[in-house]
Amino acid sequence: MQRFFSRMPLAGRLILDTGMLIATIALIDPHASGLSVHEWVGIVLGAVLFVHITLNWQWVVAVTKKMFASLPRETRINQILNGLLFIFMAVAVGSGIAISEEALPSLGILTSGSRVWMNVHGLSANASLILIGAHVAMNWQWVMRTVRRIAGKTVRKNPSLRPAQARGGITVNLPTGA
Ligand code: HEM
Repeated sequence: MQRFFSRMPLAGRLILDTGMLIATIALIDPHASGLSVHEWVGIVLGAVLFVHITLNWQWVVAVTKKMFASLPRETRINQILNGLLFIFMAVAVGSGIAISEEALPSLGILTSGSRVWMNVHGLSANASLILIGAHVAMNWQWVMRTVRRIAGKTVRKNPSLRPAQARGGITVNLPTGA
């Protein structure tokens, strides 16, 4: 499955990532979007998050293996942020499902209205939203380079950076196709 996703065209990957960002922005205020929309978007985002991690799995494995070796500071920070983001988002989706008031009950599944889960959801969701801002900023060069590639423009690597850094923020040489 991971092989299938890693062969996904760049445009597809960019669309998937942009969709995730838009969905996340839509989740910020459940009452503005309507609770039912909030819950279904959150559930779909949980599934897409799984695909996104699968697409970038080679990066995750390579950087995690090198975590305790000499790793450029930027890459280490990026990996720590990614790990935290994944954990908080998984908790946000899981706790959201636990307190679901519309989506799951509409399928006949009973959920808990527990205050504890509500608080867990609020905290993990807000932490995820902050970390997503940092995540997009850290990977902004990848976004710009991918847009240029899709537009058919030559991607000029920054000669002042080491070869791995010239890939754009992700400072580990990997055959990700990114
Ligand atoms: C990454 C995914 C998600 C994010 C970022 C997110 C974000 C948020 C935020 C920011 C709030 C307001 C919290 C507060 O007032 O302190 C909230 C509330 C809520 N969310 Fe989510 N959410 C996500 C997924 C889900 C899912 C999957 C469900 C259910 C299936 C869900 C159900 C709810 C419910 C029931 C509330 C309480 C609304 C109320 O105040 O009555 N969320 N969410």
